[in-house]
Amino acid sequence: MLFDGVDGAAGEVFLLSRRVAMSQQSLIISGVPWFDDRGRTVNAHGGCIVEERGLYYLFGEYKTDEENRFAGFSCYSSPDLVYWTFRRIVLPQQKNGPTGPGRIGERVKVMRCPATGRYVMYMHADDLEYCDPYICYAVCDTIDGDYEFRGPLTFRSELIRRWDLGVFQDDDGAGYLLVHEGDIYRLAADYQSAEELVGEGIALGGEAPAVAKLGGRYWMLFSGKTSWDCNDNYCLSAPSMRGPWTYQGLFAPEGTMTCNSQTLYVLPVHTEHGEIAMYMGDRWSYPHQASAATYVWQRLSVNHGRLRLAEYLPVWSPVSGEAEPFEGRRIAVGFRSDRAGESVSVPFHGSRVALTGRADQWGSYARVGIRGIGPGGESAMAAGPIFVSWYAKSPDSGYRYVSPELPEDDCVLTVTVTGEVPQWTDKSGQRFGSVGSMVDVDEVIVAQ
Ligand code: GLA
Repeated sequence: MLFDGVDGAAGEVFLLSRRVAMSQQSLIISGVPWFDDRGRTVNAHGGCIVEERGLYYLFGEYKTDEENRFAGFSCYSSPDLVYWTFRRIVLPQQKNGPTGPGRIGERVKVMRCPATGRYVMYMHADDLEYCDPYICYAVCDTIDGDYEFRGPLTFRSELIRRWDLGVFQDDDGAGYLLVHEGDIYRLAADYQSAEELVGEGIALGGEAPAVAKLGGRYWMLFSGKTSWDCNDNYCLSAPSMRGPWTYQGLFAPEGTMTCNSQTLYVLPVHTEHGEIAMYMGDRWSYPHQASAATYVWQRLSVNHGRLRLAEYLPVWSPVSGEAEPFEGRRIAVGFRSDRAGESVSVPFHGSRVALTGRADQWGSYARVGIRGIGPGGESAMAAGPIFVSWYAKSPDSGYRYVSPELPEDDCVLTVTVTGEVPQWTDKSGQRFGSVGSMVDVDEVIVAQ
């Protein structure tokens, strides 16, 4: 199939033509589903980005909307961080072992090993109750090829039985593995085992570790432990990966729950005004993660010796590195309901549409889809429907859905309340999630 996306070359031709046509819409919009070259949601959560020869490669967990088991790690590529081409599942579920049937696979990270030229992938493998953790690894000769699963990573011949992980490659090529509670291992030259514990327990109770080198210092970001829910994430800094690490407090405004996201990775991004550091966070959406988990990508900076994600930019350009509006014709909707099956339909003429609304602790899932209306009045599904979440731990009025680019047409966007109350418990039995099934649509914006 021409634009299947597994064929990278065909996908990129399509991508470029689409970019030219839509260049004014080349925007990073946090917290809404993104669509790939196949028209499916970009499904790469808990991962990382590796930049190589002018392309960004996004790796992540290929989630499902039904269950939490490991469904593979995906890889997408993009020239601009906005339009993503699906490359392949780079590591599928294995026949048996730590990433076999009935297991989970999370927090995939990839680095190119300078000593061997090979790509090494790290992951958290576990049972479905999160009671049998391993850090495992896989290797590949090409960045987006089929990775060969090698099994658990070791430190002094012992298995590393930990869960949340991050990686960091320093300027001298040394690779580091970061794990929850703030243990830091320097990897061996071939990146296929841990050689030295250079930091221990620097963030007790912390998970989702990520490191950035900014303003001449090392910054290590962590979240607290609230399962798929978000919390106010924090950071430490040090003059070297060996420490000493000093606690630096929250990096986003208190109470915003890190823009309703959990730390994932920090990526240097080249803009026309120079390099910026981009915070990458996961806005998880258990249980419908494939459709409704989204990405929160924001600018980080160091001001007066403090790491800050000072201003949340709902829409910004990775070219200028600055906030930009989502321009379009606004249609007031004013729909609010928590009754399963209730829906609102908004007719529009155009090729791309956004919808805004308030998400909070009472919010839940809607199904959102678009039908095109043909000249004879017949209708055909143009996009979706997919699950979209109105749940937010810190109340947020903003974009909830932005459609893929569609052929310009007369269309109807429909939002249907599902009535679900997404709640779950972690392995200690603590309860998390929404307390309602509300869906709130403020307005629809038809892109021009
Ligand atoms: C935290 C971790 C994730 C995942 C979930 C499961 O959010 O950071 O990687 O394990 O918990 O609840």
